[in-house]
Amino acid sequence: MSTKKPKSISSHDQDVIHKPSKDFSAKARIPSMAAYRKLYKASIEKPEKFWAKEASELLWQKKWSKVLNWKAPNATWFDGGKLNVCENCVDRHAAGPRKNKAAIIWEGEPGDKRIITYGQLHKEVCRFANVLQKNGVKAKDRVLIYMPMVPEAVIAMLACARIGAVHTVVFGGFASEAIVDRLEDSGAHVVITADGGWRRGKVVPLKPVVDEALVKYQKVSHVIVLNRCGNEVAMTTDRDTWWHDEMVNVSAKHEAKAFDAEHPLFVLYTSGSTGKPKGILHTSGGYLTGVHTTCKYIFDMRDEDIYWCTADVGWITGHSYIVYGPLAMGATQVMYEGAPNFPDFGRFWKMIEEYGVTIFYTAPTAIRAFIKAGDSFPKAQDLSSLRLLGSVGEPINPEAWSWYHQKIGGGKCPIVDTWWQTETGAILISPLPGATPCKAGTATLPFFGIDAAILDDAGNECKAGQDGRLVIRKPWPSMARSIYGDKERYKKTYWSDYPGIYTAGDGARRHKDGNFWIIGRLDDVLNVSGHRLGTAEIESALVSHAAVAEAAVIGRPHEMKGQAVAAFVTLKGSFQESPELRKELIGHVGKVIGAIAKPDDLHFAIGLPKTRSGKIMRRLLKELVCHGTVTGNVTTLEDFTVIEALQKTIQQSVAHHQ
Ligand code: WT7
Repeated sequence: MSTKKPKSISSHDQDVIHKPSKDFSAKARIPSMAAYRKLYKASIEKPEKFWAKEASELLWQKKWSKVLNWKAPNATWFDGGKLNVCENCVDRHAAGPRKNKAAIIWEGEPGDKRIITYGQLHKEVCRFANVLQKNGVKAKDRVLIYMPMVPEAVIAMLACARIGAVHTVVFGGFASEAIVDRLEDSGAHVVITADGGWRRGKVVPLKPVVDEALVKYQKVSHVIVLNRCGNEVAMTTDRDTWWHDEMVNVSAKHEAKAFDAEHPLFVLYTSGSTGKPKGILHTSGGYLTGVHTTCKYIFDMRDEDIYWCTADVGWITGHSYIVYGPLAMGATQVMYEGAPNFPDFGRFWKMIEEYGVTIFYTAPTAIRAFIKAGDSFPKAQDLSSLRLLGSVGEPINPEAWSWYHQKIGGGKCPIVDTWWQTETGAILISPLPGATPCKAGTATLPFFGIDAAILDDAGNECKAGQDGRLVIRKPWPSMARSIYGDKERYKKTYWSDYPGIYTAGDGARRHKDGNFWIIGRLDDVLNVSGHRLGTAEIESALVSHAAVAEAAVIGRPHEMKGQAVAAFVTLKGSFQESPELRKELIGHVGKVIGAIAKPDDLHFAIGLPKTRSGKIMRRLLKELVCHGTVTGNVTTLEDFTVIEALQKTIQQSVAHHQ
């Protein structure tokens, strides 16, 4: 990449324009801005033509009769078409020259290694599809997957897809009550899990968490358990079986039947502004087209690449850019089980050198942790195999961008800052690595077929530099089709701000050059270390504790995590504030939701600031936490003494921390 200003890391880096190098552009699928603009224009003028061409790169057992049926907010893509998603990701590679190509190069945290070729992956997936069918799983049945980052997690997902079952993967860091919620909402009756997974040198037990959930939710008839760590787990007769026992008795042959393009593929739960996570429903043909097309143009993935996305399969990034996108492309990828800092902060860089990783996709929060750990770790490794870097989850701050660019990419790799969401299924705004001039902190321009805009409250397009709401004005194939079992909520959440237009929930502005700058969520959703958490979810977890009368949760800026969780709690009459109780309440959130949701600060309050109609004014709490005082409009506040008292509490806690 050529840079117009000196390469020091400074706050001016956000103004530096980084153009892709001639060498990179020359080999890229989209080699120039002119090529981007031309295809973008055509894709927006005739989106159906663009998407149909992309979809035809997949294997269809029956071709569609209509590309798009659109009556907002209901879209069906590729109606009449039939395909098998798993066949696209596995069989078609296993049946050709990619048969002996590595699909997954896996490393366990303790250092154990496995390489699985497309040919082997095919056999394993067929076997597991047979296991599922033997256990009575049919098309459209929901299967809950709660696993560590092991190849079997991918195999389980693909096997579900193969038989038309709908997987719902729950991130291994979630607690048992989160599993109960997701079982209840999805109605799954089969669970796939492991005894545990390795994380920071320790076994994180998983099966015991499932057992705890199944005491509350008793409709699960079968639990299949992978033996990963050998930690002791209880097996319930007639309900629980071992993965390895199931796999020995089944055939490695399995026919991939075709399903409708709109057949449900998976439900993935994500946080919204209510206490209950929403089950985002994705379907088959459109979703696969979206992830395949973005892998092709944005990661410019090639057969000779070694691609590595460090996300967990429990998040949408893992679904789209570990499982479905790269495998549909026939790519070779690295998959890693454990923590980035185990045994030290050199782990990722050692693995990049060892496997010759060429494309690396990670999150800004991880980059900030690496910066803090020091340059000596990446310096000790040869990272010259890298040719392209990616970022996802939150805006990448200029310092992190520059460090990533220089210390990891050696100043030569383009960085694709990819904006998207669980609901969008695939990346919607991102640079194209061989074309787009990049600036730290902007996800730059919309992808082909994506009609992104920024609107004001009245629905007018904002002027350059003006803040507004990020929207998408045309349907796209990988868009969510519904919130599982709740079409009304889907309509209300995403499609009711402006008629026929998708509202992302993010604030953004567009600069004169057309680049999109994402400012952050406009709703009560936090982004902690790139993970999405609903304030209402954490509040309801706090209120479920016997001592808590009321709770309010807000996000505050945090150097490492992007946002930290700050909670305010009022206690029931008979309970006393104490450091022990604070600790207990924080731990309680960990037990109810999972460690990622634990408040960083927890303030006891005599009351919470409310409007006269009783609505908690989180805006004031945010001001208090961020600035120590409240200067904004307080005319609707019911009782100002509450704010005065809170102000004291916060000042004391700041003094205490200093
Ligand atoms: C929210 C979606 C997309 C996979 C990971 C998160 C924020 C995501 C970016 C980016 C600025 C970003 C947005 C979005 N976000 N990527 N490149 N720049 N913000 O998926 O959990 O569904 O969260 O993450 O706020 O709405 P998710």
